[in-house]
Amino acid sequence: MNDSVLTPVIAIDGPSASGKGTVAARVAQALGFHYLDSGALYRLTALAALRAGVAMDDEARVATLARQLPACFDAGEILLDGEPVTEAIRTEECSVGSSRVAALPAVRAALLDRQRAYRQKPGLVADGRDMGSVVFPDALLKVYLTATAEERANRRHKQLIEKGMSANISTLLQDLQERDARDAARSVAPLQKSADAELLDTTQLSIEQAVQAVLDWYQVRLAAL
Ligand code: CDP
Repeated sequence: MNDSVLTPVIAIDGPSASGKGTVAARVAQALGFHYLDSGALYRLTALAALRAGVAMDDEARVATLARQLPACFDAGEILLDGEPVTEAIRTEECSVGSSRVAALPAVRAALLDRQRAYRQKPGLVADGRDMGSVVFPDALLKVYLTATAEERANRRHKQLIEKGMSANISTLLQDLQERDARDAARSVAPLQKSADAELLDTTQLSIEQAVQAVLDWYQVRLAAL
C-alpha cells in the first residue's frame, strides 16, 4: 500500500475567509488526524519580514526568513521566536503581507518540506490554496471550499469583532477581493479549483453541515479503496 492510503491526506483549499480553517480543524478533530494551517506559515513569514524590516518583495531575503522561521504550533497557540503571535498574524497588515510573500516562488519552495513534514499517521487535514495541487497531490480527498465574497466578508467581520478588533465590512470586502485576485493571478500555485477536487459552496451551509459533507466524501473515498 502506498503513502496516500497509509497516511491519508484531506486537502481543503479555497479563497480567503471561506471558513476552510474552521472546517479543516473540525474534520481533523472528528477523525483524530493532524491539522496543518498552511496559511499561518505564510502569515508568520510576513510577520517575520515586517519585524526584520525586510521588504515584502525582497524574494531572496523573505525566502531565507521562511526557511529559518523559528515558529511552533503549541496547543492552539502560534509562537514566533517563543513569542505568542496567534492574534498578531491575523491583522490586515499580515493578511495583505502574507498574500504578497506567497506570490514569490522562492518563498513557496522554502515552505514546501516544512508543510509535507506534517503528514504523519494516522492522517492529516491540510488547508490552504495549493494543498491538493502542489503540496499533497496524492491526497485521498481534495475539497475546494468557497462562499460568495459578500458572505466571506461578513464572516471575517464577525470573527474580528468577536476578537475585539476593529473592522469595516466594505474595507474587508475590498481586501478579500484584492487578495483573491492576487492569489488567483500569481504564476506559482495559483488559487483554482482542480478538476479532481469536490466543490463545497458554504454560502448557505452551517459549519456542521460543511464538516459533515467533507466527512461523507471521505467515507466514500475510503469505501472505494
Ligand atoms: O484566513 P485566510 O483564508 O484569509 O488566509 P490564510 O489561509 O491564513 O492565508 C493567508 C495568505 O497566504 C493567503 O492570502 C494566500 O496568499 C497565502 N497562502 C498561500 O498562498 N498558499 C497556501 N497554501 C496558504 C496560504
